[in-house]
Amino acid sequence: MSADELIYSGKAKTLYSTAREGELLMEFRDDITAFDGGKKDILPGKGYCNCCVTAFLFGLLEREGIRTQLIGKIDATHLLVRSLQMIPIEVIVRNRAAGSFVRRYPFREGDTLKPPVCELNLKDDSRHDPMLNEDITVALGLATKLELREMRSIALRVNRVLSAHLERLGIVLADFKCEFGRFRGELLLGDEISMDSMRLWDALDRKSLDKDVYRYAKGDVMEVYRSVARRITSGSCG
Ligand code: CDP
Repeated sequence: MSADELIYSGKAKTLYSTAREGELLMEFRDDITAFDGGKKDILPGKGYCNCCVTAFLFGLLEREGIRTQLIGKIDATHLLVRSLQMIPIEVIVRNRAAGSFVRRYPFREGDTLKPPVCELNLKDDSRHDPMLNEDITVALGLATKLELREMRSIALRVNRVLSAHLERLGIVLADFKCEFGRFRGELLLGDEISMDSMRLWDALDRKSLDKDVYRYAKGDVMEVYRSVARRITSGSCG
């Protein structure tokens, strides 16, 4: 395969091949979508913010011993990543009740979940990402029981590292989504960890610092993304 061939284009990122075997270029675009693609826009500078935050947080996780897809940052909107065989499961970790969780279960928005709740959803917009359990996952042939156990354990470690980092900055990590893929016999954290995939609240006033600002038209999305990206990375993004 020649270099720079388009491999996959999702809702906000595009993957290109590179000349190196097993390595891909991940482009963060300015597209933003919500409600399974029902709401869409282009916000200039959004790709830059999410690329920068993902690179920073994956770097932080790697330093804590959690293996990720990231090889390095190429420029403002591109990461060099390992080519994973992605598992189409969204692993969501929740520290606080919010979003779909309070619509589905009798919790109040903001309730603390101790221990954190780990949820598995099938990545399938046309079916609105239905929830999975171990039996359904195995029946669908998506992952083995052992892989599921490992994904859950890594996701909870990711939660501990991210929560501690954000707490020091006065930010509550209410919940986040992560995805995994296989690489040479190992399970690696893939995709992105950004304001699109985390639910972040200012610890002082519980103001949204993430995609909820876009979902529910709570203010100037790019102003929030830029300022939280600067805050998360101690000024290196923005
Ligand atoms: O946010 P929403 O009400 O749509 O769903 P949720 O189940 O409460 O989402 C939990 C967390 O996973 C939030 O931080 C979402 O931003 C994230 N998520 C995601 O990144 N991609 C999805 N397809 C679904 C949720």
